Amino acid sequence: IRDDKATASQYIADYIISRIKSFAPTPEKPFVLGLPTGSSPEGIYKNLVAAHKNGDTSFKNVVTFNMDEYVGIAREHPESYHSFMYKHFFSHVDVDPANINILNGNAPDLEEECIAYEEKIKRAGGIELFLGGIGPDGHIAFNEPGSSLRSRTRVKTLAYDTIIANSRFFGNDLNKVPKMALTVGVQTVMDAREVLIIITGAHKALALQKCIEGGISHMWTLSALQMHPHAMIVVDEDATLEL
Ligand code: GLP
Repeated sequence: IRDDKATASQYIADYIISRIKSFAPTPEKPFVLGLPTGSSPEGIYKNLVAAHKNGDTSFKNVVTFNMDEYVGIAREHPESYHSFMYKHFFSHVDVDPANINILNGNAPDLEEECIAYEEKIKRAGGIELFLGGIGPDGHIAFNEPGSSLRSRTRVKTLAYDTIIANSRFFGNDLNKVPKMALTVGVQTVMDAREVLIIITGAHKALALQKCIEGGISHMWTLSALQMHPHAMIVVDEDATLEL
């Protein structure tokens, strides 16, 4: 528990940097990092970029896999997760573009795209550290309530609550929010050797309580993390209101 979002973000950025450093990645054995979008990780990316600019860390031998992407909006759309990642992180660090993996929400065969993504993760040796946030309904990536805890990368229809929550990025117009997304599954996240989650704000307090004090349930998909051998949730004070 950290005082606020800024200190939680700094803690996580420092943690990721120390994990990459102690791993000492090489081109033959890169560090495989799972990454999220959303407002929660923005501060983390800012700190990672600052650390890179200070010469403190390199992402040269880091391979990234993003959690999810909307279906049906262009990659160049300012609210696509491609755009988000380049704007907040990739354009400011030395990551090799060939090492960046983001699902293509405009692939001609979406199911094939999802299967290929899982295979790519496997070929990369699995994910070393998966960073994530959650939605107010406890979803991880776009694994909405009711998602199988054994799910893998697939097409998902967004929950109405998520469409409402994300409408702030689309001029508060529900009609403009994509209704479907490609997302890694709960099991894809669980397969990572380590999982690191940021949860901040009172609007996520109920979700945090359900996910860590409630039972393991597909209605609060982050609760699967209770079974992960190496997971950490970093929160601010506001998120602890229901604990
Ligand atoms: C979207 C993303 C999730 C993210 C969630 C929370 O649903 N698919 O990965 O955790 O938003 O977003 P925010 O951090 O903006 O609250």
